[in-house]
Amino acid sequence: MRISVFGLGYVGAVVTACLARGGHSVTGVDTDAAKAALVNAGRAPIIEEGLEALLTEGVQAGRVRATTDSREAVLTSDVSLICVGTPSRPTGEIDLTYVERVCGEIGRALREKSGPHLVVVRSTLLPGSVEGTVLPVLEGESGRKLGPELGVAINPEFLREGTALEDFFHPALTVVGAVADRDFEQVAELYRGLSAPVVRTTFKVAEMMKYVNNVFHALKITFGNEIGAICHRLGVDGREVMDLLCQDTKLNLSPVYLRPGFAYGGSCLPKDLRALCRLAQAQEVEVPLLRAIGASNERQVQAAVERIVAQGRRRIGVLGFAFKGGTDDLRESPVVTLVETLLGKGYELKLYDARVSLARLVGANRRFIEQRIPHLSRLMVEQAAELVAHAEVVIIGNQSAGHAAILAGLRPDQVVIDLTPAARVRPATPARYERICG
Ligand SMILES: NC(=O)c1ccc[n+]([C@@H]2O[C@H](COP(=O)([O-])OP(=O)(O)OC[C@H]3O[C@@H](n4cnc5c(N)ncnc54)[C@H](O)[C@@H]3O)[C@@H](O)[C@H]2O)c1
Repeated sequence: MRISVFGLGYVGAVVTACLARGGHSVTGVDTDAAKAALVNAGRAPIIEEGLEALLTEGVQAGRVRATTDSREAVLTSDVSLICVGTPSRPTGEIDLTYVERVCGEIGRALREKSGPHLVVVRSTLLPGSVEGTVLPVLEGESGRKLGPELGVAINPEFLREGTALEDFFHPALTVVGAVADRDFEQVAELYRGLSAPVVRTTFKVAEMMKYVNNVFHALKITFGNEIGAICHRLGVDGREVMDLLCQDTKLNLSPVYLRPGFAYGGSCLPKDLRALCRLAQAQEVEVPLLRAIGASNERQVQAAVERIVAQGRRRIGVLGFAFKGGTDDLRESPVVTLVETLLGKGYELKLYDARVSLARLVGANRRFIEQRIPHLSRLMVEQAAELVAHAEVVIIGNQSAGHAAILAGLRPDQVVIDLTPAARVRPATPARYERICG
């Protein structure tokens, strides 16, 4: 393919060299003439292990050249990759000036070009930027519309400085946001020969992916540091602790606990988080991230209350209120907290949880239910049908195999608010369906 790469910074320079290695013909474009001159001389404009050798190879093979002339680069290519910076403004918001400018240049050049052209954004953009900025500028300046003559895709870059070439040639995943099949396939074609899967999604999901990756990485580093700080103060080997944590790929380094849903609860997580934070405080170790977890969890309960209040209906049915489906454990169940808040606001509630009903008759939780939550015990119904008949709004409080059949019996005028991370129940009900998040 004939490719123009806009921006010869960390991302653009690496992408230029690596795509040329893949056999493509690449023209790098930068407003900085010194960077273009360096690339033309086979020199790397940034310090990155192995980059200069690859650029030299590309220039010598006639597959890499660089220019400051964006018009000429567009006219001699079929695909343009946008790799310009998207820095922070002093207020923290994203500055799209460079992206807007480069889209304008590409768009104007396209007025003089015949034949289709694909624009692929590799810069990091907040969700909505392609539809809100990139597309309007490209369409306005080129006189073309998104379609066969103007393709647009977003393909976030996940490389890390220092290991950028290795990351380019061995990515975990390539994400492409595209509307048209043709645009997606053309981007996938750029990476033919790499073993990683190329995943297609929407513009907005692709845009979000880069942020969620980076924020997750920042979270992991900070978590490791705070645990390390507590361990250090206690004379515990923090590296060994984190090494062992990482060895559990079932619960720790795994998708478990990473799906958007409701607050955590139960007899362990809240108690143990509190105890560790209290210990850190006693040891005068600052752990702002760990302390924020509880506050965020409480916020999630409040978010559910607000969502229910916003429905403007009074009769609520709660399907599953143990802290986890398949258990009768009500200790620190966030659904119980939610129910108590709604009760305080005067809502008419009915609760159904098959496991808790069983526990009320025979289980070890019987005394807990009778003595600690008699106010909830009174709201419990023994048959799900009673709840369905009562409720204007049905809250799915936990995941349980029995819920799908119950929800299948709902009426179209009922509203379901799903607090769980599951996707299963959605198609089974004619009622209006909302998720708490995600
Ligand atoms: N640096 C990283 O490791 C990394 C990794 C993944 C994603 N990203 C994202 O990729 C984007 C680029 O990051 P970077 O670190 O390569 O930026 P950078 O600042 O190193 O490079 C941007 C380049 O674009 C050039 N430029 C600006 N306007 C131009 C125009 N109109 N035409 C041509 N060139 C122009 C600048 O002169 C500069 O050389 C950002 O959105 C960044 O968030 C960066």
